Amino acid sequence: MSEQSNPLTALMRLTVVAVAIVFSLPVYAQAFDEYSGQETYMRFCAACHGESGQGDGPVSEGLPIAVPDLTGLRKRRGNNFPEDVLRKIIDGQETVVVHGTRYMPVWGYEFWVEEGADDAAKERVDIIVDNLVEYLRSIQQ
Ligand code: HEC
Repeated sequence: MSEQSNPLTALMRLTVVAVAIVFSLPVYAQAFDEYSGQETYMRFCAACHGESGQGDGPVSEGLPIAVPDLTGLRKRRGNNFPEDVLRKIIDGQETVVVHGTRYMPVWGYEFWVEEGADDAAKERVDIIVDNLVEYLRSIQQ
């Protein structure tokens, strides 16, 4: 029997490939889905929205428009925390600009790239955005 037709050899080859893929993933993909919402917020959002969420981060001073206070989201929307809208604003499906350019990065895209830019990355982006929305819920005044 030739090596080519041996099913066990083929299976072993597949296993080697699969193991190689699994172990190579962390090298390329970040794992921000394992961060808490607060950790992700401090890393990616606080520069503009401020550590307290009130729109007073260091980068906000350099922007031509005011950075929104994220602790007042519920109050500004009639005491209703707009979970679905927020998810879309953060990942970029919903545009937040009233006029002019959007200054806030399109996080759905940014995180997708960070996570490896494939289908699995999309699922991790959903987790990241969910964690962020839950963190924002926790800082409402
Ligand atoms: C470069 C500065 C900057 C960073 C970083 C940033 N934002 Fe923003 N964000 C803005 C600005 C400016 C607006 C107002 C809309 C616009 O012009 O894009 C905004 C709007 C928002 C809004 C809508 C607020 C409202 O009242 O409707 C939410 C929610 C939000 N940001 C969440 C986040 C989250 C979560 C992160 C981190 C993943 C983040 N932002 C990072 C600048 C930033």
